[in-house]
Amino acid sequence: MKKFKVLYLASEVAPFSKAGGLADVIGALPKSLKGLNQEIRMMIPKYKFINERKYVLREVIRLREIPVELNGQQKVASVKSAFLPDSKVQIYFIEIEDYFNRPGIYTDPKTNKPYEDNAERFAFFAKAALETLKKLSWQPEIIHCNDWQTAFVPVYLKTEYMNDPFFKGVKTVYTIHNLTSQGEFETDMAKKIDFDESQTQEGGMFNKEGKLNLTKGAIYFSDFISTVSENYAHEILEDSTLGFGFSKLLQDKEDKFEGILNGVDYSVWSPDNDKLIPYRYDKEKMDGKTENKKTLLNRLGLTYDEKIPLFGMVSKISKHKGIDIILDSIDALMKMKIQLIIYGDGDRDLVKALMKKGEQYKDKMVVNVTYDDKIEHLILAGSDFYLMPSKYEPCGLNQIYSLRYATIPLVSAAGGLFDTVEDIDMDEGDGTGFLVEPLDKANMVEAVQRAVKLYENKELFNKIRQEIMDEDFSWDISAKRYVDVYDRLVNEE
Ligand code: GLC
Repeated sequence: MKKFKVLYLASEVAPFSKAGGLADVIGALPKSLKGLNQEIRMMIPKYKFINERKYVLREVIRLREIPVELNGQQKVASVKSAFLPDSKVQIYFIEIEDYFNRPGIYTDPKTNKPYEDNAERFAFFAKAALETLKKLSWQPEIIHCNDWQTAFVPVYLKTEYMNDPFFKGVKTVYTIHNLTSQGEFETDMAKKIDFDESQTQEGGMFNKEGKLNLTKGAIYFSDFISTVSENYAHEILEDSTLGFGFSKLLQDKEDKFEGILNGVDYSVWSPDNDKLIPYRYDKEKMDGKTENKKTLLNRLGLTYDEKIPLFGMVSKISKHKGIDIILDSIDALMKMKIQLIIYGDGDRDLVKALMKKGEQYKDKMVVNVTYDDKIEHLILAGSDFYLMPSKYEPCGLNQIYSLRYATIPLVSAAGGLFDTVEDIDMDEGDGTGFLVEPLDKANMVEAVQRAVKLYENKELFNKIRQEIMDEDFSWDISAKRYVDVYDRLVNEE
């Protein structure tokens, strides 16, 4: 395999900083790329809460106090370095006192609102990253960006830095992880982030519906766009609702746009070596799974009963994740002999409504907004079924994790869910999960009924849940596809 110099940029990376599935991907794909002999380095903001001791972050003397200019104002960035755990992938953490030394990644935990200067924060990060490369004298062939927080880089490279010989020939790849969050700001932001103001006007490269739109800028200026599953790529091209206004733009770039399914880092997400769950288990020895279920129920004050299936969910609480469908169906679901655990935070009203239902059905349902890694792993390991009825899901990772934990997923057919879960046929005795399609209350209730029925058929239930543990979504194949993309870009013209 050919070797390329790749800089990988993102706003979050597991286990250092995680707001969602993005962090898991950022913490995993570079390891696989390194395994494919790529020369890859990463740059990530150094947030206040990143534990420097625990993760052994080291100061890089020659990368101290790098001057960076934005909107005529100078600030300094300093760089600390560490490795992705269990790997030789180097991460440069970019420290910018005024912008990242805060308790939240995107939102202020006190107000639950996005930081008002988010565009400036990440614009500055982008410039600091480019300046750091120069200081390092390390010239990547590819800069691979992820989501709008890094959309500035493809733009700057083809505007402000266009004539900078250091970046001559550098190609950019931009991965869309989620089109619901596009980086949308008022047009007067352009000046503050050194964007061409005229392009924020109607018909301009950053203008979308009267706003400055960073995703649009990234799509325009990047040399290649990818997204995180094939079905999602297809959806956003073909369905203008799911394309959120980008279908046409992406169709125009179709030969430069591809869906590449996310993989899973099984060194983190596998019940036989998961350090975060109390009982480890594998296909041959499944009793650990039952013990995890008992522990989980006990912790949440629910009673264990062998005959009652447990449905688990860890999710952002939003309509996109189908929480409204769950709320609509909840009374019908609670008539069944099931238990339900939902963990997550998000939309205030939906959280309130869920909590109310949790209170009403407290002997069989628990809703909790405090989330951490440990409980996520325990819910994946201890549940019998995993719920993910998203309206919109570029890839989705938890349904893929749940397969490995022998927890049967119950999902909608959106985006990557469709690419990773195959509907169970009880007569044939095959499939890997339950599809709710189309996603509505009646089908949701019916899918849970089917799941309960499967649970009652112990033999088939055990057969299927053991089989799904063999599903393999490791990164190898997808990482190779990214290297192919790099190859094409570096060798084109
Ligand atoms: C976003 C998407 C999710 C995807 C993840 C990683 O969080 O919503 O579907 O799995 O990014 O790409």
